[in-house]
Amino acid sequence: MDNSFLDPITILKSDHEAVRTVLNNLDGYLKKISKVSSDGLRNNLINQLNEITVFIDKDLEVHFKKEEDGLFPILGNYIGTETGPIHVMLLEHKQSRELSSEFKSKIKSYPYAKEYNSIVNIGNAFIKLLSEHIDKEEQILFNIADMQLSQEEKRGITEKFLTISSSVSRET
Ligand SMILES: [Fe+2]
Ligand SMILES: [Fe+2]
Repeated sequence: MDNSFLDPITILKSDHEAVRTVLNNLDGYLKKISKVSSDGLRNNLINQLNEITVFIDKDLEVHFKKEEDGLFPILGNYIGTETGPIHVMLLEHKQSRELSSEFKSKIKSYPYAKEYNSIVNIGNAFIKLLSEHIDKEEQILFNIADMQLSQEEKRGITEKFLTISSSVSRET
């Protein structure tokens, strides 16, 4: 039997690195959007936010699903899901999805509404929420998972991740 598999916590942490990179790029765009004085430049910058919303809709959504359908149910057997850290993480996923859908609708209405301030404000709120969220997962939840889960449970979670990634790429 093959005993080697990628540790699920390592996989989630590498997802987080990709999220941090995108949040950094987003931060850069938002700062420029507030600073530029020409409408044309601002339009270009706002158009470039689309590559970020594509990441949020695909990659971030797959990451959330790995946690919600892979890690949390198994870890929940030890620490519960109705209260405590998993409950808080689920709430923050919900808030993140709400903010990103608001963000997308503000970007969509920009050509006629010209409300770039609300794009910047919502974008900043999204960055804050998500960077604090992934810090909490890494500092608290993932350490609990590392201590509590057996090798067999970890292997099962990694296998679940693979089915989640492939089912989402089939949908899109
Ligand atoms: Fe999460
Ligand atoms: Fe995460």
